[in-house]
This record gives sequence, structure tokens and C-alpha cells, in this order.
Amino acid sequence: MQKLIVKGKKNLSGTIPISGSKNASLPILAASILTSRVLIKNIPLVRDISTMIDLLRFIGMECKLNKKKNSVKIKKTKKKLNPVAPYKLMKTMRAGVLVLGPLLAKYKKAKISLPGGCAIGTRPVNLHLFALKRLGAKIKIKNGYIFANAEKGLKGNVIKFPEISVGATESAILSAILAKGKTTLLNCAIEPEVLDLINFLNKIGGRISILKRKITINGILEIKDKEFSHKVMFDRIELGTYIIAGALSGKKLVVTNVNPKIIKTELQIFKKMGVKLIIYRKKIIILSSKKINRIFIQTEPYPGFPTDLQAQIMVLMTRAKGVSKIRENIFENRFMHVPELRRMGAKIDIKNNIASIYGQSDLSGAEVMATDLRASVSLVLAGLIASGQTMINRIYHLDRGYFNLEKKLKKCRAVIKRI
Ligand code: UD1
Repeated sequence: MQKLIVKGKKNLSGTIPISGSKNASLPILAASILTSRVLIKNIPLVRDISTMIDLLRFIGMECKLNKKKNSVKIKKTKKKLNPVAPYKLMKTMRAGVLVLGPLLAKYKKAKISLPGGCAIGTRPVNLHLFALKRLGAKIKIKNGYIFANAEKGLKGNVIKFPEISVGATESAILSAILAKGKTTLLNCAIEPEVLDLINFLNKIGGRISILKRKITINGILEIKDKEFSHKVMFDRIELGTYIIAGALSGKKLVVTNVNPKIIKTELQIFKKMGVKLIIYRKKIIILSSKKINRIFIQTEPYPGFPTDLQAQIMVLMTRAKGVSKIRENIFENRFMHVPELRRMGAKIDIKNNIASIYGQSDLSGAEVMATDLRASVSLVLAGLIASGQTMINRIYHLDRGYFNLEKKLKKCRAVIKRI
């Protein structure tokens, strides 16, 4: 099994180009099922994306990856697709559930494996199924599979989500696009990745509009038989991660290919913490930040602070003067990185969903274990500031979502290698 070795206390300087967003690419790839030909650009070639492409291939779409250009050409070559998502492709990537909506919309039936468990919480799919049922789908669960049926096609409806869910909002949009009549979604997730999906769907003929947390979808009969193309937005979580890397150990780190307007909340919080940033239209410069201030934050749906950046900002808090706090509101078990950070010398207490981080603790390198995607990268960040060497096990989690992490960090003088 591969491991990462990070040697700490090196100053980072250089430029990091931010890749396309994994979480925006996944629903857009699922949406390709609705089209006959599509070119998707700026996808990060990470494991979750290859798993989604394998899933599309299993269903019967032809996918040609261009690794040099970070793009994929997807074509429907068969008349009828196989509307099935097997367990082997669903067990490692929950976002596979996003193919359910488009399959049901286009082929009126689908059979997909229930996604596997997940370290950060139970992560059910009840809200996805609730939305599909409201659109007229009949759903049965048997032998670990979801069997969905809409013989007469889906029908527009009003759907008010009891809780905000990114995936369920995307599932509802992906199914309602071909439903008869109008669908109104209330209490929706309005993450930038949801907006990127809507932009893509409107390009292929969708009639979708958004106002605050309300999304209106006017169903269309069919999608034109022509080639569409879309460039996926940048990865705002990758961006936040490298800003934190710069704040922790940067002399002068430049991150490019971004739109800072999308991460206003994060930038405000970084500034409050004393991180020195120069913000341009498409790039951000992070300068050496001598003093970090303590802060109290909580994770929330967008435009709040993202849960996907919680583990990383916690490492920055170990540097702050005084006690910082994080309230995790999205996932019930998302402090798995804490015991590992403690092994490196961090002083962190957890009470229910609140972590208290006692700052100015000197971290020292240790052998640690990655538990999920964002937790893994927080250990890399901790390794960058720790004395000595940090060895991170189970880095397959990291490979699910960070494109060229070692290459990008090495170019900025980090000492990091994979063994
Ligand atoms: C997406 C992101 C993930 C991010 C999360 C929250 C992708 C591929 N993944 O995940 O990186 O951490 O948003 O920003 O975009 N829930 C239910 N029932 C459901 C669905 C969700 O109870 O059917 C709960 C979840 O357990 C969680 C909360 O709703 O507590 C939010 O989850 P959700 O927004 O759906 O996350 P994902 O779409 O899975």
C-alpha cells in the first residue's frame, strides 16, 4: 500500500494552478447520460472521476479520456443503455447515485446499488429517493439495490427538501429536466457546483432558473442530438487547501485559475485569522503570515464555511494564539483526523460536534493514518509544519480527490514523496 512521506518546516514558494472541481465534474458526468455527444473539459483526473467514467462505460456510454487536456469525450453509441450501477462501482464512490436521476428520466427505469458506508457519517440517500418519488417514480429496495421505475415518465411537482442536500438537489434537477411540466425545488443546496450543473444543463437545452434557495425546472421533451461542450469550474476546496498550505508555511505562494468571488466566506475567515492575502480577479497570493489569530467557525451549506475544508483549517488553528473552535454541522462523524493530529502533538478536545483547538502547539512528525479524503490532506498540511518526518498511510483516500498533489507541492519546494 502506498504511503506519503512529508518532511516539515520547509518554506513554500511558487505557483499552484488549481484544477477543475471534482464535485462539479461528477454530476455533469452523470448528466452526460442525457445527451448523445458531449465534451467535458477541465476535469481533474482523480480516482472518483475514473470511477464515474467506469460507471458510464458500464452503462454503455463510450468515454474517451484525453489525459493531456484533462477532458473527456462522451458519446452514446448504442441505441439502448444498460440502466444499472453495480455494487463494485458504487462501494467506493457515493456520487455514483447521481446516475439514478438521468437514467430514470431518459430510460424510465434504473437499478443501482445502494452506496457503501462512509467514514464521516451514515450518509443515507433518502432525500434523493424522496425527490424521485415526488416526481412520480416508484422505488423499491431489495438485495442492496434501488429499483426505480417511471413507466409513464416523470411528472413535474413541488418538492420541498426537509434538509439541505447537495446530492439530492442535483438528483432532483437531473431527473426533472425531462419531466412533464414544471418542477419547483424548495430549500435547495446552492453550492457553486450545483450552479455549474445548472449552467451545463441549460447549455444542452434545459430551462432551469434559480432564485435564492428555490430552483425552477421547466421540463423539456428531449435533448438535441448534437455535440455540446462544457468547461468545469475550478475546485474551491483544493483552492482553500492550498491557501491554508500557504498560510502555514508559505513565503509567497500563488494560486491561479480561480474566481475568488466564489469563496468570499473562506477569504473573510482567513483574513480574520491574520492570513496575508492579495486577491486578484483570477489568482490569489498568500504571503508569509507570522501571527495567526484564534477564531470560532461552524460548517454550513454554501455560502457558509464548507465542511470539506474543516479538517484543513483545524491545522491552521493549531498555529493560532489562544483557543479556536469549530462546530461541525453537516456530518456527524467528521473529526476522524483529530486523533491523528493529536499523535503529532496537536491539543484538541471534542465535545459533541464542537472541537476546541488549543493553539501554538508545536507539531512533530509521526506515522499517521488517513481516514477520508479531506482528513488525509489535513495530515499532509500538518506534515508541512511539523518537525521531522510524517508518514501518512492509506493515501488512497487522498487520490480520490486531489489531482497531482505531490507534483504541485514539490514544485513549490515542499519535500514530499510517495513510497
Ligand atoms: C456533497 C459533496 C461532499 C460534501 C457535501 C456537503 C459531492 C460529490 N460531494 O456530498 O464533498 O462534503 O456535499 O457539502 O458533491 N443527507 C441525508 N439524506 C440524503 C442525502 C444527504 O440525510 O439523502 C444528509 C447527509 O448525511 C449530510 C447532509 O445531508 O448530513 C448533507 O449531505 P449532502 O449535502 O447530501 O452531501 P453529498 O451530496 O453526499
